Amino acid sequence: MAAQWLLLLLLVLAAGGGVVQVHGQLDNLGFISIDCGLPENAAGYVDNATKLRFTSDAGFINSGTNHNMSADYIKPSMGRSWHNVRSFAVGARNCYTLRSLVAGLKYLVRATFMYGNYDDLNRAPVFDLHLGVNYWTKVNISDANTPEIYEIIAVVPGDYAQVCLVNTGSGTPFISSLSLRPFKDGLYPMANATQGLVLVSRVNFGPSDGVVVRFPDDPHDRIWMPLSKPTAWSEISTTKKVQNMNADSFEAPSAVMQTAITPINATSPIEFSWDAQPNVNDPSPGYICVLHLSELQILSGNAVRQFYITVNGEFWDPRGFTPQYLYTNAAYNTDPNHQFHQYNVSLNATANSTLPPILNALEVFSVLSTTGITTAPSDVSAMTAVRDKYQLVKDWMGDPCLPKNFAWKGLGCSYAVSSPAIVTGLNLSSSGLSGNMSPFFGSLKGLQYLDLSRNNLTGTIPNNLSQLAALTLIDLTGNNLSGSIPSGLLKRIQDGSLTLRYGNNPNICSDGNSCQILEKKKSSMVAIYVTVPMVALMVIVLLVVLLICMRRKQPTSKNLMPRNRRSSMHTSLQINNRRFTYNELVVVTSGFQRVIGQGGFGKVYDGFLEDGTQVAVKLRSESSDQGVAEFLAEAQILAKIHHKNLVSLIGYCKDREYMALVYEYMSEGALHEHLRARENTLRCLTWTQRLCIALESAQGLEYLHKGCSPPLIHRDVKTSNILLNANLEAKIADFGLLKAFSSNYDTHVSTGRVVGTPGYLAPEYQATHQLTNKTDVFSYGVVLLEIVTGQPHIPNDPEPTGIVLWVRRRLVSGNIEGIVDTRMCGDHDVNSVWKVTDTALKCTSQTPEERPSMTDVVALLKECLELEAARVVSNAGYYTAESGVSPNSSSI
Ligand SMILES: *[C@@H]1O[C@H](CO)[C@@H](O)[C@H](O)[C@H]1NC(C)=O
Ligand SMILES: *[C@@H]1O[C@H](CO)[C@@H](O)[C@H](O)[C@H]1NC(C)=O
Ligand SMILES: *[C@@H]1O[C@H](CO)[C@@H](O)[C@H](O)[C@H]1NC(C)=O
Ligand SMILES: *[C@@H]1O[C@H](CO)[C@@H](O)[C@H](O)[C@H]1NC(C)=O
Ligand SMILES: *[C@@H]1O[C@H](CO)[C@@H](O)[C@H](O)[C@H]1NC(C)=O
Ligand SMILES: *[C@@H]1O[C@H](CO)[C@@H](O)[C@H](O)[C@H]1NC(C)=O
Ligand SMILES: *[C@@H]1O[C@H](CO)[C@@H](O)[C@H](O)[C@H]1NC(C)=O
Ligand SMILES: *[C@@H]1O[C@H](CO)[C@@H](O)[C@H](O)[C@H]1NC(C)=O
Ligand SMILES: *[C@@H]1O[C@H](CO)[C@@H](O)[C@H](O)[C@H]1NC(C)=O
Repeated sequence: MAAQWLLLLLLVLAAGGGVVQVHGQLDNLGFISIDCGLPENAAGYVDNATKLRFTSDAGFINSGTNHNMSADYIKPSMGRSWHNVRSFAVGARNCYTLRSLVAGLKYLVRATFMYGNYDDLNRAPVFDLHLGVNYWTKVNISDANTPEIYEIIAVVPGDYAQVCLVNTGSGTPFISSLSLRPFKDGLYPMANATQGLVLVSRVNFGPSDGVVVRFPDDPHDRIWMPLSKPTAWSEISTTKKVQNMNADSFEAPSAVMQTAITPINATSPIEFSWDAQPNVNDPSPGYICVLHLSELQILSGNAVRQFYITVNGEFWDPRGFTPQYLYTNAAYNTDPNHQFHQYNVSLNATANSTLPPILNALEVFSVLSTTGITTAPSDVSAMTAVRDKYQLVKDWMGDPCLPKNFAWKGLGCSYAVSSPAIVTGLNLSSSGLSGNMSPFFGSLKGLQYLDLSRNNLTGTIPNNLSQLAALTLIDLTGNNLSGSIPSGLLKRIQDGSLTLRYGNNPNICSDGNSCQILEKKKSSMVAIYVTVPMVALMVIVLLVVLLICMRRKQPTSKNLMPRNRRSSMHTSLQINNRRFTYNELVVVTSGFQRVIGQGGFGKVYDGFLEDGTQVAVKLRSESSDQGVAEFLAEAQILAKIHHKNLVSLIGYCKDREYMALVYEYMSEGALHEHLRARENTLRCLTWTQRLCIALESAQGLEYLHKGCSPPLIHRDVKTSNILLNANLEAKIADFGLLKAFSSNYDTHVSTGRVVGTPGYLAPEYQATHQLTNKTDVFSYGVVLLEIVTGQPHIPNDPEPTGIVLWVRRRLVSGNIEGIVDTRMCGDHDVNSVWKVTDTALKCTSQTPEERPSMTDVVALLKECLELEAARVVSNAGYYTAESGVSPNSSSI
């Protein structure tokens, strides 16, 4: 009689049908009973069968849609919870969260499913269930009419449990109801922190009324499926109460134990079997079998009921087993059986037995490893708080970091082998966040970057972020935050351990003590500083050029760079011409720690102002060849000139013998580094980027020559003095040799000695010390040739030669490709390369008169950009392919 019947048990389940009386104080039971898909505003209801109160699932999940089962499948006897479902067409993983649990306690979780063709597709789906981060089971809906019940007994690690429906590509997951019942600690001792019990079968043998026993007859609300087959076995029963033993491990209810079966043929055994059900996560799952046994008959005289229990022929207890009269006994294995494909269980009378074996009830479980590592509980609660605060209806459900392929979008996690996963990054850029900044960001102890840019956050920046030791980047660009930068963060910014971006937050003030004054100062000075270059820009720059040079910035904005040029102007403006004391500079540079450059003037240090603005501090060294008077003159000139293609001076220091200039920080360094980075293909400039850089440098020089009064000569134009910011915008730097023409605007001046850099020096200047703006034009021509060729200004190929000669020699053959930097990969317009090369050769003419003015050069380069733009228009996608800037470079 070993048969298939056990595996069919669940399918036999009659939906509803229980007839029960209840007088329970449900609130005290700690039960959760959820009718999934019940509308949010619908009142809960009391289930007819159990008298338990069901509520809508709206408070337990944020996703999915409600549906009614097709009327064709609704039967009057059916419990109401089957009538509607919640389905999840969107998202790979959708999770219910059951709260207010006690960590470390054991719970029974039950999910039920009845398809009922709710979607009119007549396609029953197959999907997975997870309990927290652990795979629980596959839900295989066989047809529209069959209710499916899945149950697990597990210890919860936290104060909540999550049940997730996972789409495996075989139809849309849905669910009918979800329940949770607390179990006291001693129940089901095989379920522990590392092992859960997944129900395979739970059978109550022999009830002739066919009634499902559950709550309140079973106070733990297990569902005992009735199995009565009077033709297959003898059924015996009692009306007397069957008691639980002291410290009973299962507390099988009396209603279940009062009925039992014995074989019809007293010499036959009771046999049953089940097949192992391997799954992807466990190819040889282990099984636990619990036999609930109680003597229901008073045995007369020397009658004996004693039997062996064997599993695949192995004795559980070779002495045999005798159930006690009207007490619940259980026979079960504690170590799960793994090794078989099929399990045959047999109850066989011993030789001494005068009575056949008896069986009252049976449970079979497969064991589930619940050792899955989770995200650190404190990070989970912080992330949950953040999600709930901003009402993020992203598919942020389940454990934030695990399983890895379901980690929350926008989250960076670090995973260790045996410790919890940690949240290390959070990108909520452009996520529509509003309200103030959650203090819970500061609870993510392992956070390294936090990107909240382009939202609508208001209020102040919480200071607790400064406690996050690993945090190196906060991007708050483009919000509505106000107030000052908290002191803790300022400290971190100044010691160089943190970069804060807060551009485009109109109400953040950089100096906590004088917000009022700064506001005023800002508005009056913006007018001068911003409008002048803006007007010039509009008039001079052709639309197409604007377009082409702005579009190349797109990749950078994806890389967390400051997005707003106006705002960075604001920040540098507020402290324009500020005079620093030496001690202030010590603070700004954290004691002159990080050298980022070195020139004739002295060393250049990295620093941060109080508002987090990164700056470059040039400290005049003792051995500088620049005198004090010259230094002051330069500081004065620089304070007056402003152009978007000249590195701006933020302030200066003249404090006793100390002299320094504080410049805006150019995160991408000097142009020559980008051109020389031959091995490092990461930063290979495209032709369009090169053209834009050439044009911007030319505009900077043109401003010195034509826009300043008196006109200025830079005298040291070279690729190492052209700096790039985060957007790869070029600005001319190092005005240490800047020379003003005499006040009556002589066309040239004579200097006592030649300064500048060999290889960039115009021949007439070297020969006669005659200095004109054409001296700069010559140097600029050399720069242009470097931009085209990627060669140093004195290529060593085959022997050291000035680049002008190097190019002229190679062009004799008329082949432009012989000089073009191969790292542009041929992706350039040959005509525009010719034009730029031609311009460069004109700039480097031997006689100054043959050289064009910087104004001519600017015009020529714009034409080149137009050529390039025309080519690019027919080459969609070109810009997005450009390399961005590295995320760790920074400015503000
Ligand atoms: C539940 O019971 C009430 C009365 O006992 C009855 O009116 C109602 O139809 C029943 N509902 C279901 C779904 O059986
Ligand atoms: C489901 O049916 C009920 C009435 O039985 C109705 O009020 C509700 O709007 C229906 N819900 C959906 C999603 O169709
Ligand atoms: C679902 O069950 C049906 C019938 O038992 C079976 O044929 C099918 O292979 C199962 N699907 C999966 C994905 O397990
Ligand atoms: C849980 O039970 C299994 C099987 O008895 C055992 O191997 C494991 O060590 C137990 N885990 C804990 C945490 O007690
Ligand atoms: C009972 O079982 C024994 C041995 O299995 C067999 O010989 C006998 O015929 C059976 N009796 C009935 C009534 O089936
Ligand atoms: C279980 O019993 C069936 C027949 O009763 C037999 O064919 C099968 O081999 C048995 N399986 C094991 C693992 O003993
Ligand atoms: C039942 O037990 C008897 C001995 O007590 C043995 O001879 C017999 O083979 C057993 N039957 C089964 C099916 O295990
Ligand atoms: C069967 O009874 C005999 C005599 O009473 C006893 O010695 C033996 O241990 C018993 N066997 C079992 C399995 O209880
Ligand atoms: C940002 O928030 C403010 C104040 O709550 C509101 O007036 C404004 O419309 C919001 N802007 C956006 C883009 O959501």
